Amino acid sequence: MPTLFESLRVGDLTLPNRVIMAPLTRMRSKQPGNIPTELNATYYAQRASAGLIISEATQISQQGQGYPATPGIYSPDQVEGWKAVTNAVHNAGGRIFLQLWHVGRISHSSHQPNGQLPVAPSAIKAAGGTFSATWKQVAFETPRALETTEVADIVRDYAQAARNAKDAGFDGVEVHGANGYLLDQFLQDGSNQRSDHYGGSIENRARLLLEVVDVAIAVWGAGRVGVRLSPYGTFNDMRDSDPVNLFTYVLKELGARKIAYVHLIEPRSSSAGSQDGNIQDAPDTAQLFRQSYPGVLISAGGYQRSDAMKVVEEGCADAVAFGRLFISNPDLPKRLEKNAELTKYDRGTFYGGAEKGYTDYPCL
Ligand code: PHB
Repeated sequence: MPTLFESLRVGDLTLPNRVIMAPLTRMRSKQPGNIPTELNATYYAQRASAGLIISEATQISQQGQGYPATPGIYSPDQVEGWKAVTNAVHNAGGRIFLQLWHVGRISHSSHQPNGQLPVAPSAIKAAGGTFSATWKQVAFETPRALETTEVADIVRDYAQAARNAKDAGFDGVEVHGANGYLLDQFLQDGSNQRSDHYGGSIENRARLLLEVVDVAIAVWGAGRVGVRLSPYGTFNDMRDSDPVNLFTYVLKELGARKIAYVHLIEPRSSSAGSQDGNIQDAPDTAQLFRQSYPGVLISAGGYQRSDAMKVVEEGCADAVAFGRLFISNPDLPKRLEKNAELTKYDRGTFYGGAEKGYTDYPCL
């Protein structure tokens, strides 16, 4: 019976424990240019005892950005900034994957090249809104549906971003296919009404995700590529008419590629951490999809110590990703192992700002 505190082989890596740092948007990159800083390096290095750190979601292009001050991985300055981060994590004994992100319709024209409309599989607006480039709360706009030829350009942007991540010294990449961003928008029929070979059937809707995974594998090898998915997630106004068959197909295809891991977000925390407390009647996706995927499964979503230990011991997941608890407990693996007290996080300092609520949480 494995435990949360045992090592785990994940693709080409051996993790010292199964306490994973989840990808966390913190909106603290240097402006202009969305460039990672020394402060960001300090923050990640403080958390190097995680079995694996998955970086905050990082846009692969300016078109892929949807919030202010989120970092990118498309300019030389961004790659240099990330080098300082990966060096600091490695010097502290850690491992870090970069999360590759394109937000699709979850953007605002103020973030887009030349103030254009955000792009998406179909011209279907998501309910809700985001922060503009000047940090004003704005409603989502009706996006422009991508031409088929433009989809190939986006795959090329992912490939270049994957190469940049390698130059920046990461240990691998996680393809963000979750939470209603571009790849998830293509997967689910609530946001994808296309009539070309990227829409319609499950195979067609999964095509873009799998093309992106394949270019990431071409750069990194399958053993250094992970994929994050959120079946049944409702965050960012997502829905699908047949999630079981959709995600079973995706997991079968990912299984055949022998990637490092699949990272599933439990729909009980569909607010993507923007609220405390879990939805009680949501399906348990780690349990539901465990049989569909033969490889390493990381489960995320509002875990506490006891249910994280249980999900690993019962074999429904191989590892557990923690977000909010890793914000306020840089030495989270040690604290969980010792059953030590956990520091409460301050939601008011999650996004933007500097050291406060970022690098000033104490270790034991
Ligand atoms: C966010 O910035 O709020 C955010 C980013 C990526 C996610 C979820 C939420 O997957």
